[in-house]
Amino acid sequence: MREQAIILREMGYTLWQLRQEAAGRDETPKAEPSVSIEEPAAPQASAPVVSVPVDAPRDILSGADDDRRAATIAALDWAGLTQAIQECRACGLCARRRQAVPGVGDRTADWLFVGEGPGAEEDAKGEPFVGQAGKLLDNMLAAIGLRRDQNVYIANAVKCRPEGNRTPTAEEMAACRPFLLRQIALVAPRLIVLLGKSAVHSVLNDDRSLSALRGKPLSFGAIPVVVSYHPAYLLRSLPEKAKAWEDLCRARQIYRENAKSAPA
Ligand code: URA
Repeated sequence: MREQAIILREMGYTLWQLRQEAAGRDETPKAEPSVSIEEPAAPQASAPVVSVPVDAPRDILSGADDDRRAATIAALDWAGLTQAIQECRACGLCARRRQAVPGVGDRTADWLFVGEGPGAEEDAKGEPFVGQAGKLLDNMLAAIGLRRDQNVYIANAVKCRPEGNRTPTAEEMAACRPFLLRQIALVAPRLIVLLGKSAVHSVLNDDRSLSALRGKPLSFGAIPVVVSYHPAYLLRSLPEKAKAWEDLCRARQIYRENAKSAPA
């Protein structure tokens, strides 16, 4: 309970406690309030996949012939996709990266979270959301009973660090989009949570403001999409944390409703 209380406090909630409990008079162990989510969905059938050959075709690695490159990436399996991302030279971001940051988590997850792009710490470690914003994201996940390695996959709109943590350009996001689309297809999540404008732009191709999109029924194909604030923004703008909490509760509600109506 204490851990959950810390998390909810961080999310901007005021917690009230009975005086009797606060004084520690009641020694009876209390049951944890349930924040767990339903069992993961059964793995879904996927399209035939191919591994990228070790000498990957140029059209995957460079930006030449967008349609052909996108079609090639759309047929890759996880190994091929990871290799293609790591070797990609389709936009200028590759010039300064230490390494590309493909994604992290459960590859059969029901929940997909999409951020913007790696920062310095992610570039050094090769894993998304490991810095301060990542700690907040982990706490947000924990608040709804999730963990980054269990039934959750985390990816970014761009896989290489934009210098100075600037927002990636539309061209950079377009060059990386086939990778993100393939991640979505391979994970086949039941719900996508888009964290910030770049994720929204990349997945939904929508440039409206977050405030115009939050709380709206949105989808990517048949997959429901929930739009929320980027954790880095929440670190700078504490009052918005309560809104992010609302978004997460809404996401959990949609997930539960869909899990109930899904075929067994
Ligand atoms: N911000 C992001 O959008 N992604 C990361 O991986 C880290 C910070």
